[in-house]
Amino acid sequence: MKQKGLALYPGSFDPFTYGHQDILERACQLFDHVEVTVAQNSEKHGFFSTEERKQLVEACTGHLNNVSVAVFEGLLVDYAKAQGAIALVRGLRQVSDFDYEFRMAFANRRLAPEVETVFLMTSEEHALISASIVREIYRYDGDISTFVPPAVQEAMAAR
Ligand code: PNS
Repeated sequence: MKQKGLALYPGSFDPFTYGHQDILERACQLFDHVEVTVAQNSEKHGFFSTEERKQLVEACTGHLNNVSVAVFEGLLVDYAKAQGAIALVRGLRQVSDFDYEFRMAFANRRLAPEVETVFLMTSEEHALISASIVREIYRYDGDISTFVPPAVQEAMAAR
């Protein structure tokens, strides 16, 4: 049965990968609406600009009818509360993700106990994909076609 409500799926999405898409599709089964919340991180110099990342997520999620995409800057839980979100969705790939994710989830819970963090596991096929690995393969002219959707591949090739 579907949970009611809005969930945010926050992240850098630099770029959006098949792993992100996998998690998003799972979240869409659980929540009425999922917003992909693209973080504007002034400390990180991204491969794509925040606006480009947003547009690419939109291009990759047209097949999902309960998804929207937005950009945010600031503290995630403040944004989540302002949007009326009941949950934050984060993907887990492997054990090494746990440390960072647990620290972030506990910090977010202390700040906003009413916003639950929900961890979803990727399919095995996508367990080794990360945006940073995609950027590295791209940098050395490797084939990224099995890691990212076609729209992202085209946008990276156009660089
Ligand atoms: O894809 P990422 O880079 O792992 O996503 C991390 C993100 C953007 C979800 C996280 O850095 C974040 O929420 N940034 C906003 C500032 C904030 O609220 N941090 C959490 C408090 S520990």
